[in-house]
Amino acid sequence: MSKGKEEESLNIIRGGEIPSHVAIIMDGNGRWARKRGLPRIAGHKAGMDTLREIISCAHEIGIKVMTFFAFSTENWKRPSWEVRFLMTLPEEYLQKDLPSLMEKNVVIKAIGDLNRLPKRTLRAVNHALQSTKNNTGMIVNFALNYGGRAEIVDAVRHIAGEVAGGELALDEINEQLFADHLYTRDIPDPDLLIRPSGELRISNFLLWQTAYTELWFTETFWPEFKREHFLQAIMDYQKRERRFGGIKK
Ligand code: IPE
Ligand code: IPE
Ligand code: MG
Repeated sequence: MSKGKEEESLNIIRGGEIPSHVAIIMDGNGRWARKRGLPRIAGHKAGMDTLREIISCAHEIGIKVMTFFAFSTENWKRPSWEVRFLMTLPEEYLQKDLPSLMEKNVVIKAIGDLNRLPKRTLRAVNHALQSTKNNTGMIVNFALNYGGRAEIVDAVRHIAGEVAGGELALDEINEQLFADHLYTRDIPDPDLLIRPSGELRISNFLLWQTAYTELWFTETFWPEFKREHFLQAIMDYQKRERRFGGIKK
């Protein structure tokens, strides 16, 4: 995108409602690599550059929360060499980018069943959580070994435990209490969900939280997803009318 066109997009965006929380399913790395005759892992590496670019663009626009789907509970089904490689990426990414994230005052968060991550991966993630926990800027939330159904089952187990222990009465269970038992308890529901790579599905991402999220799809694979795509998604979002079951104002 030319500088002029980008400035124009930024001006439009700044004049409208900025989504508080944008979630992205980082998909299409493997197909991007295959198209170029490269191994799948080259696609995952290239996807990391996109991640950087989009975080920095989101920071410029003033988005409060970004959630990135990095590894699903179903991704363990992949060949072990690919899983092993994917598990090295958080460490590599955080080692390189933690200083620039600190400079941006970013708070890193993670959702998912982190205890199943390899020790080194978990150590790198915990280090980033600790290092950024007193920052006050944009939240960058990584979904790692995350599954929407697993998250819901986890919440049910906790709530059932509280009921069984006599700490909670059945009629105290409501939507708010349920949401407070999810991994996302301290962040708002996504306003916008972006999925690159041409797949038109949610793939077990934020099932509860996306009840009224605006969806935006593109054929572009994640490694070639650029600022211009992100800005376009936000401009399109700003034209949507969110009714939440009500009627036009
Ligand atoms: C997304 O890219 C990365 C992860 C799911 C971890 P894919 O690896 O799913 O790429 P495609 O969908 O096979 O192209
Ligand atoms: C979703 O992508 C998970 C991540 C991007 C981390 P997948 O590639 O795993 O999804 P499916 O299998 O195409 O639904
Ligand atoms: Mg995929």
